[in-house]
Amino acid sequence: MRPIPCIPENAPFTAEQRAWINGFLAGLFAEPTSEPANAASEATTSTHKVLILFGSQTGTAEGLAKKAAAEASKRGVSARVLDMNSYAAIEWGQECSVLLVTSTWGDGDPPDNAAAFWNFLNSETAPRLEHINYSVLALGDRNYSDFCGAGRKFDARLEQLGAKRLHPLGECDTDYEAPANVWMSAIWSEFKKLSVETPAQVKELLPPPKTESSPKAYSKANPFPARLITNRKLNGANSAKETRHFEISLKDSGLNYEVGDALGVMPANCPALADEVLLALKCDGEEAVKLAHGTEVSLRKALIENFQITRISTGFLKILAERSNDEQLKKLLAPDAKTELDKFLHGRELIHLLLSHPGASFSPGEIAELLPKLQARLYSISSSPRMHPGEVHLTVAIVRYDSHGRPCKGVCSTFLADRVDEQTPVPVFVQPSHGFRLPQNHDAPIIMIGPGTGVAPFRAFLEERRAVGARGKNWLFFGDQRRATDFLYADELESMLKDGHLTHLDTAFSRDQADKIYVQQRILEKSAQFWEWLEAGAHVYVCGDAKRMAKDVDMALHQLIQSAGGNGAGQAAEYVQKLKVEKRYQRDVY
Ligand SMILES: Cc1cc2nc3c(=O)[nH]c(=O)nc-3n(C[C@H](O)[C@H](O)[C@H](O)COP(=O)(O)OP(=O)(O)OC[C@H]3O[C@@H](n4cnc5c(N)ncnc54)[C@H](O)[C@@H]3O)c2cc1C
Ligand SMILES: Cc1cc2nc3c(=O)[nH]c(=O)nc-3n(C[C@H](O)[C@H](O)[C@H](O)COP(=O)(O)O)c2cc1C
Repeated sequence: MRPIPCIPENAPFTAEQRAWINGFLAGLFAEPTSEPANAASEATTSTHKVLILFGSQTGTAEGLAKKAAAEASKRGVSARVLDMNSYAAIEWGQECSVLLVTSTWGDGDPPDNAAAFWNFLNSETAPRLEHINYSVLALGDRNYSDFCGAGRKFDARLEQLGAKRLHPLGECDTDYEAPANVWMSAIWSEFKKLSVETPAQVKELLPPPKTESSPKAYSKANPFPARLITNRKLNGANSAKETRHFEISLKDSGLNYEVGDALGVMPANCPALADEVLLALKCDGEEAVKLAHGTEVSLRKALIENFQITRISTGFLKILAERSNDEQLKKLLAPDAKTELDKFLHGRELIHLLLSHPGASFSPGEIAELLPKLQARLYSISSSPRMHPGEVHLTVAIVRYDSHGRPCKGVCSTFLADRVDEQTPVPVFVQPSHGFRLPQNHDAPIIMIGPGTGVAPFRAFLEERRAVGARGKNWLFFGDQRRATDFLYADELESMLKDGHLTHLDTAFSRDQADKIYVQQRILEKSAQFWEWLEAGAHVYVCGDAKRMAKDVDMALHQLIQSAGGNGAGQAAEYVQKLKVEKRYQRDVY
């Protein structure tokens, strides 16, 4: 890795200016993260160029950005794809067309690699962008209340900064391929118009060359029917938790993965729950219903395999409120009652509402229209393909809870735990990660923070580093409720500590003493050593709970950079941003 120069502390800049310049230098000197999207784009003689920036946590937006670049270059438009974290290295004055492709995380927030760019666009140093044509493709999931929140914010902010919207914001729900293609086609038409308006500058855009058809590989749209070969409980007897280790065979699938990737699993709903829903609907299940692509199946089959029957859509709720004349539901559906609605929906499933509103009836056809499509779930892969060729391992917390007088089950975790037998295929696909990768330099030290199921990718990292003979030091922070029952993979980890593959293993078992202890406290206890590792070039990885743990660990990181590194708050923020730009602070949080 090339050394990255830094502005000295005593240089005459404000903290904000220093952060910007350091970010610029880091972007300039960082190793490139992606190949040019297509060699053809380099070779093109076109003078029309487009910059495509992506904000992506689990790689979907990154994949679409690269696809857009490949499509652009086929049409004679020269495209560059950049991670939003490289924003400081962009010469904004030189850009004329910018496309943003971003997902949304947390509660309407930008993904990790887009956060600094978002702050920059909202800072006093944000450039005016009157000379830029832009469009945003937003990825999201309608199950979240702030649908496509990050994309919408970027779209509005670019307009405020003077940029001209080339095409309206494209919004994609979980089935993103079709709307993304529509957005891309519209963008190329707009480019074509631009080229007609400025014929001297831009050659006529070429139609895309015909591509050869290849046999269809397994993907999210066409998952591989895999075989589950191991299903083992990791917690001891009397644990309050149920975490399971699954081993899945990828034999004959042609699917490959790298450590840091996730596996997508397309589950089926619990048949017993589907039967309860049928009873509440007063249907026998044999009624034929049409799926989105026109195929007819029985209502029972659709409730098990195709529809989301646990979460409740607002479309369904609206009709239920009307048909049952439920004033409370109507109030909750008011635009200003979002918080109350979220509170009401928490822990309620379709069956709760059908049973509490027996007077409201729905035809099978209406149900098919009102229920959203069942979605795949992602799991961080916990194996190295070098150690387990042809297999993929997962570490899954099984979701079971009682709510509003009923036992409830997470769809996918209990599908894997309870409902898959030797005859039941598990439909899977590989979701490549955006940047959650081991350092290319095998000598670089790594610090992994992964409490609970957050340990999953780190088991894979440790296996991989052993398989490739990496000599870099490895430090793991793990936490859970109790050492006796919840120390996941204790045997493997302790044996790695014993033979030196793990340099340090720090644990935080929250319920083993009167005061709760979490990984962030252990990190702070080891501030001086953590700081030494950072200064020696360590890469820091965090995996697991996004709501509390990842935020607390982030605070601890800032805190130790101040206390052990002798920095102020602004300098700590700059240090962390530099780590992110250098891809030395990566998170896989959910
Ligand atoms: C990139 C990524 C990596 C991931 N890696 C892992 C991993 O390695 N291991 C892992 O276990 N998970 C992982 N997850 C989470 C995983 O994808 C699923 O979200 C999780 O398994 C739950 O899915 P489910 O279908 O079992 O539950 P769902 O059917 O989706 O139900 C979960 C929902 O149930 C509700 N709920 C849960 N408990 C309660 C309660 N006590 N009271 C009321 N409501 C409740 C909540 O609304 C919750 O969202 C990852 C997620 C992402 C995005
Ligand atoms: C923990 C988590 C939080 C999310 N929050 C939102 C949200 O607030 N709004 C939204 O529209 N989508 C939300 N999503 C959905 C993602 O934006 C969507 O899955 C997207 O396709 C991911 O793209 P990426 O792989 O490029 O990050 C969330 C997903 C996860 C797993």
